[in-house]
Amino acid sequence: MIPTPASPPSNTAVVEARKLVKTYGNTTKNPVFALRGVSFAIQRRDFIAVMGHSGSGKSTLMNILGCLDRPTTGAYLLNGEDVSRKSRRELARIRSRTLGFVFQSFQLLPRLSARANCELPLQYAGAPGFERRKRAEEALVRVGLKDKLDRKPTELSGGQQQRVAIARALANSPSLLLADEPTGNLDTRTGYEILALLQKLNGEGLTILMVTHEHDVAACAGRALHMRDGLVVKETVHQTPVDALQALEAWKAEEAEREALAS
Ligand SMILES: Nc1ncnc2c1ncn2[C@@H]1O[C@H](COP(=O)(O)OP(=O)(O)OP(=O)(O)O)[C@@H](O)[C@H]1O
Ligand SMILES: [Mg+2]
Repeated sequence: MIPTPASPPSNTAVVEARKLVKTYGNTTKNPVFALRGVSFAIQRRDFIAVMGHSGSGKSTLMNILGCLDRPTTGAYLLNGEDVSRKSRRELARIRSRTLGFVFQSFQLLPRLSARANCELPLQYAGAPGFERRKRAEEALVRVGLKDKLDRKPTELSGGQQQRVAIARALANSPSLLLADEPTGNLDTRTGYEILALLQKLNGEGLTILMVTHEHDVAACAGRALHMRDGLVVKETVHQTPVDALQALEAWKAEEAEREALAS
């Protein structure tokens, strides 16, 4: 059996970033300060957007939170455990058990079916075949692709491919989903559909951190962290986040009006 991630006490923050600093290059001569002391926490069931101009440090932060890289100084507590000094091997293990990733460009394997794509992270985590299949199928049902299990990515629309990628991220029941511009390659309508799916999953208890350049997209999250020059300079709490499905309906009505005016 694939070990289910140990559930920490429910009051433990999923993420606690303490004064994260990341420098690249020669740290004495010409250091590049990608992060200059970033502190914040993500609680269970949070849906957080990270915004900021190009070069502000969003990817660097995501790489650290995703256990793909380590901070130069500072601490990163994931489910209460300090992972900032773990070895690469340990980080890979934590990644495969605790984190789910969604990217702008989907990053699905083109030769594999939706189901086989979703089985991959479970395979890395050492789950036996029957369990991989079961979990992959459950995840695909959850994202609304029950009837597309055997389709390859080329036989799916962009939105459907992103759904497969989200299912793949869900398959190992992660305690945190990290999404880097998940709507960046999608048209407005499909983007809202994907945001609605993320909101639904968040409502079901999934904790999400999403990087985006767009204010309309960030408005669908519960909170936004604004980054500038390697720092979180502002935090906005959205008391009532924009409902992506409602926003989609409003957008469709506007489109219809535009078309009517043009004809
Ligand atoms: N491997 C690296 N080596 C040297 N400098 C780097 C490296 N990665 C990032 N940087 C620098 O760190 C800073 C933050 O980069 P980062 O990629 O985190 O920005 P970003 O907010 O993700 O930007 P974008 O919106 O363009 O993706 C930038 O000044 C960048 O040039
Ligand atoms: Mg980036």
